[in-house]
Amino acid sequence: MTAATQNAEEDLIYMDGFDLENPELDEAIKDRALTSGGYPYTEKMKTKDYEKHLRALQIELVKLQRHLAESGERVLALFEGRDSAGKGGTIKRFLENLNPRNARTVALPVPSDRERTQWYFQRYVTHLPSGGEIVLFDRSWYNRAVVEPVMGFCTPSQTENFLHEAPPFERMIAEEGIHLFKFWLEIGREMQLKRFHDRQHDPLKIWKLSPVDLKALEKWDEYTKARNKMFVATDTPDTPWTLIRANDKKRARIAAIQSVLWPIDYADKDFSAIGEIDHKIVMSPEGFLA
Ligand code: ADP
Ligand code: MLT
Repeated sequence: MTAATQNAEEDLIYMDGFDLENPELDEAIKDRALTSGGYPYTEKMKTKDYEKHLRALQIELVKLQRHLAESGERVLALFEGRDSAGKGGTIKRFLENLNPRNARTVALPVPSDRERTQWYFQRYVTHLPSGGEIVLFDRSWYNRAVVEPVMGFCTPSQTENFLHEAPPFERMIAEEGIHLFKFWLEIGREMQLKRFHDRQHDPLKIWKLSPVDLKALEKWDEYTKARNKMFVATDTPDTPWTLIRANDKKRARIAAIQSVLWPIDYADKDFSAIGEIDHKIVMSPEGFLA
């Protein structure tokens, strides 16, 4: 289909030249993917540098895990972002070398009929970390702020209620002493198109492409609005968001692990191994939207 045969809305949706079915991705989209959405780097991180830094960070994570086991402290990190932002891959790098006994990921399925009748936060509460645990949520209660309203899975007033309830709910978690991190992985539009295209044409990745994802292609602007509204309502001093520009997956993974390690005290912490956080890609929502 050429741009001329599309109606105005579809034109806006798929951008010139984007065809999910065509194995060849449009060159212009390919070229713009990395820098899309205002990404500050024109090259991806070198694999060798990435692997070296990741290994150093994973060693620190092992130390952190030992500290948590000894102290009984708890860590909870939520990963949010548009489809294909890299949540699953980032979580995988966190957990790669940790003892699965006290480090786990939580990716809840679509709520059951019974769960739909409960207080919205209820099904998440049972998955909060116990003493010594590090728990990583691949999507979270924030479904109600972004995916659900954009896809029509909840009513506008359910989202309003959620945005009102989330800050006190999270304040209780923080006051309880749980180290809470809220990550938003931010990708540009061409990068999302490129990743969906890669998934469509890679037999090992095609399972990642869900009907919700395909619908998300059309809903870019609605996602943006919902995201911004969520930031305004839920980026609080007690439980702030950490936004990570994630067009380069390697830099994003490094940044997420650093962001968890920095604020927590643990024995034998090696600050130089952790390294400085790159504030060109890590920022507050306010810094991002400014
Ligand atoms: P993911 O990107 O996490 O692999 P999807 O893109 O398929 O998964 O779905 C995005 C999110 O929307 C998931 O958390 C999923 O549980 C949720 N979701 C899908 N369908 C519904 C629904 N009918 N009601 C509520 N949530 C839903
Ligand atoms: C991601 O890449 O953000 C997650 O794996 C979820 C997805 O988009 O399928």
